Amino acid sequence: MPFQFINNKMELIKNLKWRYAVKKYSEKKVSEDKVDQIVEAINLTASSCGIQPYRLFVITNPEVRKRLGEGSFNAQLHASSHLLVFAGFNEITSEYIFDYVEMMEDQRNLEKGALNELKDMLIEYFSVQTPGQNVIWSDKQAYIGLGTALIAAAELKVDATPMEGFDPKLFNEVLGLSEKGLHASVILSLGYRDEANDFLASMPKARLPINEFSFRIS
Ligand SMILES: Cc1cc2nc3c(=O)[nH]c(=O)nc-3n(C[C@H](O)[C@H](O)[C@H](O)COP(=O)(O)O)c2cc1C
Repeated sequence: MPFQFINNKMELIKNLKWRYAVKKYSEKKVSEDKVDQIVEAINLTASSCGIQPYRLFVITNPEVRKRLGEGSFNAQLHASSHLLVFAGFNEITSEYIFDYVEMMEDQRNLEKGALNELKDMLIEYFSVQTPGQNVIWSDKQAYIGLGTALIAAAELKVDATPMEGFDPKLFNEVLGLSEKGLHASVILSLGYRDEANDFLASMPKARLPINEFSFRIS
């Protein structure tokens, strides 16, 4: 059975009500098996054109994390079990598209060249985009990965905090992202909530009533 249902509701709804953006973490570490599952879920996330224009960095090194957290109001940057950095591509190059489409052919047991039309179409499309457009597009795809990570973490009962409150220039420098043609798009801490000391742990969720948020046009 692909989904578990409780009282006719998918278990996921319960897990999404359980999760919140944790401000204060306990010392407890997330197992590598759970982190691996979250990473796998992110890798399985859909992306526009299917070419995954971002990479993920999983950081535990305390010195690196301390440096990354300099000047940020988000203590979760260093005071949590793991830090995930979603790093978007600065540019979508023809070489990247070429290699990715070749990999697709391979993984789908297609003849070499079977996806030439797709390849040419993508190369042409991205050749007329500005670097700024590439960055915005890559960031959008990275944020979809972030959404998956939040859901995967909730399913595993791992706490997580999505964050934009960080210094992207510092991240690019400390992680050497620019040399890799990447930039820090958004980040996510993983860990376990410090229930007694996190003021948000006992707060009810604040969300719009469904009928103010969602509209049906039948
Ligand atoms: C893209 C994004 C960036 C966020 N940046 C931060 C941040 O820098 N620091 C922080 O404590 N929370 C951050 N949050 C958490 C939001 O404030 C939180 O998700 C929102 O208030 C809804 O609450 P909930 O996630 O606890 O249900 C961010 C959330 C998202 C989705």
